[in-house]
Amino acid sequence: MKIIRTKDYAEMSQLACEHVMDAVKNKADINLGLATGSTPEGMYECLIENNKQGKVSFKKVTTFNLDEYIGLEPEHPNSYHYFMEENFFKHIDIQAENTHLPNGIADDFEKECLRYEKLIESKGGIDLQILGLGTNGHIAFNEPGSKFDSPTSIVDLAQATLDANARFFDSIEDVPTQAVTMGIGSIMKAREIILLVSGESKAEALAKTINGEVTEDVPSSVLQNHSNVTIIADEAALKLVE
Ligand code: F6R
Repeated sequence: MKIIRTKDYAEMSQLACEHVMDAVKNKADINLGLATGSTPEGMYECLIENNKQGKVSFKKVTTFNLDEYIGLEPEHPNSYHYFMEENFFKHIDIQAENTHLPNGIADDFEKECLRYEKLIESKGGIDLQILGLGTNGHIAFNEPGSKFDSPTSIVDLAQATLDANARFFDSIEDVPTQAVTMGIGSIMKAREIILLVSGESKAEALAKTINGEVTEDVPSSVLQNHSNVTIIADEAALKLVE
């Protein structure tokens, strides 16, 4: 694992943005794995700015998002479809048909999980996966106890995740309790992974990710088994790591 320590959120976002830009410049038709949430917002802003200035193009890029809430229409302001559209896709020159997220309103979720997993495979797999980190060590919506070889699956969200994500909803009762998520097995197939982490609330989870036992109780600890992981984290998040 390569660890890059930044002074704050802004620097973390800037470095992540530069890393993605370099990757897109090296491979114009790259397959990017993307995350939602507060952590990558600054990186998306930076990528949008650079795209507007003509310094990077997403015309040939294909994206796959990690997850989507079950029960939310793509137009719902709390859906991850909506998040990606508002925070990234609508501002850049990416082709809509090249952006993919799991369908949170599928008729048959078993079929949907298989479809998504196969879609990623059929496009050649993910070259560069961006991840955020849950306070409980989750990656995507793979909560503690998830199998390390899990494919795209339907999952129940942990109480810690419902609590953390309630900030985006009117009340905690409105937070969907299930999601479709790329599995840990799916994520580990990515050729390169960048984990972005910011803030003291993530310090314990990040310390366990880097130095803890590799265990399904801490999903992110699986990243110790991947050969090409870069962690870009700010000082607050790395507080418990020497
Ligand atoms: C989002 C995702 C989640 C988040 C994690 C951190 O697509 O898969 O694992 O990355 O919950 O969320 P934030 O960045 O909001 O702290």
